[in-house]
Amino acid sequence: MAPQHLLLLGLVALLTPRHAAAQDKKIPDFIKICKRGEPELNQCITNSVEQLKPALENGVEGFFPSLEPLMMKEVLITEGNGLRIVGKNVKTYGCSNFRIFNMIADMENLDFDFDLELPMLYTVAEYDVSGRLLLLPIKGNGPLYGNWTDCKAHVRLDGELEERNGYKFPKFSSLRIVFTVGTGTVQLKNLFGGDKVLGNAVNSAINANFKQVLKELQHPIEKALQDALLEISNDCVREFTYDQLYPVE
Ligand SMILES: *[C@@H]1O[C@H](CO)[C@@H](O)[C@H](O)[C@H]1NC(C)=O
Repeated sequence: MAPQHLLLLGLVALLTPRHAAAQDKKIPDFIKICKRGEPELNQCITNSVEQLKPALENGVEGFFPSLEPLMMKEVLITEGNGLRIVGKNVKTYGCSNFRIFNMIADMENLDFDFDLELPMLYTVAEYDVSGRLLLLPIKGNGPLYGNWTDCKAHVRLDGELEERNGYKFPKFSSLRIVFTVGTGTVQLKNLFGGDKVLGNAVNSAINANFKQVLKELQHPIEKALQDALLEISNDCVREFTYDQLYPVE
């Protein structure tokens, strides 16, 4: 290699910051940190999460995309006596409009336990249904609309510290949710190729048996929320050290 090339390489090496100086990366405005020794730690962390809402609603470039809508590629609902509903491209709106409470934060072990209330969720999807409902054979596909009110989620987020380049970074390894829907209604459009009388009868029957439908929906919703929220939790903290996020001061 020509000497001037070696010189150039040496210069580049000198000018490139080692370890990309982890502790120099500034905490963005949307993350409100709580200090060590904070007397009301649970309340402080609750407030931080509350203040994340606009960021969750709109997404933050370089961190995470918008939580609106929450996407599920496919949801399968099967009802005991032979009804099968497949929902595709399931988009649920309203997940960033939550109330958080009952926070129990353990900053030493990075464990967080809390409850969420989601007053109103709204789902749009494409469905395909076949089978029998109350002895009535049903078949169809088209758009599905759903409203879910008074949803509740109990969340447990667990993490640990990960060492990189001599610095300690928090990393969340698991997030578990128990999710319940208060009430809801769904509407399947275009059942029986658009036959209004049959379509209305089936929609009424589904909504009359809504508790059963909700039971089937609980696990797919929990899974989608768990995956999305675990990813967002890590996206928030990934580039910051434990000492930056929870400074001694
Ligand atoms: C959901 O709620 C909106 C607003 O109240 C209403 O217009 C719509 O018909 C409802 N949809 C279903 C499927 O219940």
